[in-house]
Amino acid sequence: MYRAPGRVNLIGEHTDYNDGFVMPAAIDFYVWIAAAPRSDRKLLLHSTNFSETVEIDLQKSIAPRHHWSDYVAGVAIMLERAGHHLQGANLLIQGDVPMGSGLSSSAAIEVASGLALLENSGLHMDRLELVKLCRQAENEFVGARVGIMDQFVSSCGQAGHALMLDCRSLEHRLLPLPRDVSLVICNTMVKHALANSEYNTRRAECEEGVRLLLRSMPSVRALRDVTLTELEARAGNLPKIIYRRCHHVISENARVTKAAAALDREDLDNFGWLMAESHRSLRDDYEVSCAELDLMVDLARQQQGVYGARMTGGGFGGCTINLVRTDAVNDFQSGVADAYQKSTGRAPQIFVSPAAEGAAEVKK
Ligand code: GLA
Repeated sequence: MYRAPGRVNLIGEHTDYNDGFVMPAAIDFYVWIAAAPRSDRKLLLHSTNFSETVEIDLQKSIAPRHHWSDYVAGVAIMLERAGHHLQGANLLIQGDVPMGSGLSSSAAIEVASGLALLENSGLHMDRLELVKLCRQAENEFVGARVGIMDQFVSSCGQAGHALMLDCRSLEHRLLPLPRDVSLVICNTMVKHALANSEYNTRRAECEEGVRLLLRSMPSVRALRDVTLTELEARAGNLPKIIYRRCHHVISENARVTKAAAALDREDLDNFGWLMAESHRSLRDDYEVSCAELDLMVDLARQQQGVYGARMTGGGFGGCTINLVRTDAVNDFQSGVADAYQKSTGRAPQIFVSPAAEGAAEVKK
């Protein structure tokens, strides 16, 4: 049995695919996979969440079906493509990471599948290689052009810590979270239909920004290589919308670096202020927030004991992440839930999670 966690991102949103910095933590919600070998080359998947069974024949060519099983099939294909000959397996899959809520249930099923398929075949692989293959499965088989943050933290998260990840070098630093503070996740319970198409549009806008900046800055490879001063000096050469997208990414990278320094000195007020700035930038410059996320963040800021609140993940619905003093968590939960339900008619889900350990085999 193997399990891999979902994640929240404390700060550093829409920076991973710009070679930038992110600060996620794994959460105490998982996808679990029990695996048993088969003598043929078939994968028999059963999801208890969907009460569905799917058969995948590794001997035949496999096409995406726009179905939960694509995440497993995609990882199997990428492993085989990388030269790892897989044995058949029966896989029983169950997850408690809320789906479609921006908490990376997809990365969790990919990473758990990768571990299960490898070990079931008596194979071992470097964790970083597995992370890259899982992302490749999502990019090339599932068809979502995501960055590497989710798969990385699902695989490499550490209990009690956030990771500060450099998405270019893939080097990471562990940041211990202060003991008297809790990670509180508020699910707006909405996911707007444009989330996936807008994600790809934002990526294209960042690429367009790089293309235009290259004219006067020939060594730029990604928005990571541009400072705010350099961007501002070229504002007149960029369409307004492209300028704002670049402004978000470049300012967000700077905020992650400052947030890591703030955590190092346990300056949670400063960390919370950076979270607020991040949300503002995502809402106004990157335009990936929505009314429900903005409301959830505003309601959180009205509660006692809250250091910071912002949307987390891709946006257009899903969850906010809140840093709350542990002794204020109960009041926070009821205060936010009541006010959100009163305004929207929807009951939010509110979770408290420790920063959890990354994917692993589950031993008795
Ligand atoms: C999704 C993607 C990540 C990242 C975030 C935004 O979660 O999977 O790679 O781009 O959106 O920060």
